[in-house]
Amino acid sequence: MTPIWAQLAYLIAAVCFILALKGLSSPKTARNGNLIGAVGAVLACVTVFFARDLDHLTLILPAIAVGSVVGVVGAQRVQMTQMPQLVALFNGVGGGAAALVALLELQHLGALSDVGDVPEFDLAATAFTIVIGAVSFSGSLVTFAKLQELMTSRPVTFPGLPVLFGGALLASVGFGVVMVLDPAIWSGVVLGLLGLALGVLLVLPVGGADVPIVISLLNAFTGLTVAAGGYVLGNTVLLVAGTLVGASGTLLTKLMAAAMGRSLLNTLFGALKGGSTLGAGEISDRPVRSAGPQDVAILLGYANRVIVVPGYGLAVAQAQHALRELADVLGDKGIKVDYAIHPVAGRMPGHMNVLLAEAQVPYEQLKEMDEINGDFKQADVVLVVGANDVVNPAAKTTPGAPIYGMPILNADEAHQIVFMKRSMRPGFAGIENELLFDPKTTLLFGDAKDTMSKLLAAVKSL
Ligand code: TAP
Repeated sequence: MTPIWAQLAYLIAAVCFILALKGLSSPKTARNGNLIGAVGAVLACVTVFFARDLDHLTLILPAIAVGSVVGVVGAQRVQMTQMPQLVALFNGVGGGAAALVALLELQHLGALSDVGDVPEFDLAATAFTIVIGAVSFSGSLVTFAKLQELMTSRPVTFPGLPVLFGGALLASVGFGVVMVLDPAIWSGVVLGLLGLALGVLLVLPVGGADVPIVISLLNAFTGLTVAAGGYVLGNTVLLVAGTLVGASGTLLTKLMAAAMGRSLLNTLFGALKGGSTLGAGEISDRPVRSAGPQDVAILLGYANRVIVVPGYGLAVAQAQHALRELADVLGDKGIKVDYAIHPVAGRMPGHMNVLLAEAQVPYEQLKEMDEINGDFKQADVVLVVGANDVVNPAAKTTPGAPIYGMPILNADEAHQIVFMKRSMRPGFAGIENELLFDPKTTLLFGDAKDTMSKLLAAVKSL
């Protein structure tokens, strides 16, 4: 029985988690929200130590120490651009931990069932935790490998994948029923292995551009797993925290799928229909028009309206400060400059907002996609800095392209388009961008920070 003081502490922790989510809903309060959530998590962990007589402290404490060191060092060292894979990894470890706890609990429930009745619902929740926790673990590892480019980020399919997936799904339902009828540890282990296979088969066919949606879905899975684990263990704080993660992960999945113009089913299984790999990979040797910083500076000098499209390459090059300076200089010359922010530009939600806020770009110059998409027709120059997929017209014109259906920024409607990138390599989705070959397009090749500084100097000297 959990003592009253501990139940109160769990309640406070649960309130902290809710306040944390509320705080995270606005950039101004996000930092505090994060902190409140962390305080809640520490409170919940410390409470467990004092509310129960824990066995195996000699194993638990070193494990916590090792986990904390890995977590802190990992989080400190990771680049902003690698944040999604870190989140994927942390999420997967959470799901895997819940599955392992449920396996141990199964051993306990199995022993109880030898001497009396164990409610079937408890066993069903245990089976659910094992299988979905394992899906979340292995699925998250595959998303990590895709984002870290340890494997191809293109959809991986092979003949028989749908049959294998369907078979593994049916087998896990079957073994789940077997486990409820006879809670033996072997059935839990088989269920866990099936979950691991399901996670891999679920994520392999997902193309790189859709990986963020799947990370969010797996996050929701982990939440549900933890909530079911909380039910099995009779732990309120796990139940509440898991439900919050499950609900927010589901909402985020829905919002991200909508931002990419995809349904969840299409995201997960689109490649199995054979379309999603179209055009992937090759670098074209078709002619393009390229120019130096001086020529682009003259182009900008004659403009009345410039729209900047920032993308992942801006973050990699850390060119945001030079970009803001360039926009200021253009502004001083009476040229109106705005930044068009695509919801999935960069590698994490809000990536461009964070990057440009760091460079102190005035908030009113940041325009969301829906707000600015009608303005491209009036733009004299669109400056695409390290972005690619978010302006790729294939999203509108090429059914079967991995980004087909994703709303894009209408850069193609501007009078002149300048791309700042290093090469003809494609963006994250791995497909060629027809806009690079458009007669209105000029390419300014080079690392964005380096070329931006040269462009800035050239504009200043006009
Ligand atoms: P991308 O399509 O990935 O294009 C980035 C471009 O930046 C590339 O064409 C690359 O060309 C260029 N680049 C890289 N390093 C550079 C540097 N140092 N200097 C100059 N250019 C550089 O980026 P995007 O348009 O922002 O689109 C984002 C993509 O990532 C979407 O497909 C989206 O679905 C996906 N994604 C988004 C998220 C979230 S939630 N935002 C998470 C994961 C994935 P070069 O190599 O030729 O320089």
